Amino acid sequence: MEIIIAKDAEQAASVVADRFEDVLHERGEDGAVLGLATGSSPVLTYRELIARHREQDLSFAHARAFLLDEYIGLTADHEQSYHRFIRENFTGHVDIPDELVLSPDGEAADPRAEAARYDASIGEAGGVDIQILGIGANGHIGFNEPSSSFGSRTRVKTLTEQTVRDNARFFSSSDEVPIHVLTQGLATIREARRIVLIATGEGKAEAVRDMVEGPVSAACPASILQMHPAVTVVVDEAAARDLTHADYYRFIQSQKDRLGS
Ligand code: F6R
Repeated sequence: MEIIIAKDAEQAASVVADRFEDVLHERGEDGAVLGLATGSSPVLTYRELIARHREQDLSFAHARAFLLDEYIGLTADHEQSYHRFIRENFTGHVDIPDELVLSPDGEAADPRAEAARYDASIGEAGGVDIQILGIGANGHIGFNEPSSSFGSRTRVKTLTEQTVRDNARFFSSSDEVPIHVLTQGLATIREARRIVLIATGEGKAEAVRDMVEGPVSAACPASILQMHPAVTVVVDEAAARDLTHADYYRFIQSQKDRLGS
């Protein structure tokens, strides 16, 4: 894994935005397939990408996007649906075609069939070129909670009490947080050609340590990223707090900067 310790959340967001920009340029008119996350972690990155769109003509006109997950039971226009969140925080402010910003349908009459359809649609689009991820305090990615199978595909999951509590900050009370979600599985996420995970704040420090330096274990679903060939983990100083080898990661980074790569 490539580990980048940024001085603060803004610098972390800028590093992740650079990775997205590289892929958008590489894919050009062939159209980059972007994997998008919701929640608070990617918001500054999205803000940075919106700024680059407005000020530097960074274009998303040929891109399409797949979200990681969606709550079951919220309407698409519910204030906390991820369908709405991504439009308000990112895609509604850039030139990506709205009909190509796709997410699992949390209102589907048959959520299991919807999960299979959504999973297949990612493959039909050629797979994700770059996936941005956040991480839960319990090590989840997407909504793959501890004990999720490393072979899992998009499916219905039940949130842990901790995740419901963590997400209650976006709702008026924890009773309103849906407990069922549709989420890309760990095997689905791992098919992305590049993955950039962003984590900021000390609340993520233990999960970051377990993901990067712990054993590959279903106890920390994000630890499966150790097996992916092209993962970058971007953290601020607070989220890097518990990393045993932080100085080594900084050293590697400084050597790369010297080499200009
Ligand atoms: C969001 C998602 C989740 C979040 C994670 C962290 O689409 O799949 O895995 O990335 O819960 O949430 P925040 O960023 O709000 O701390």
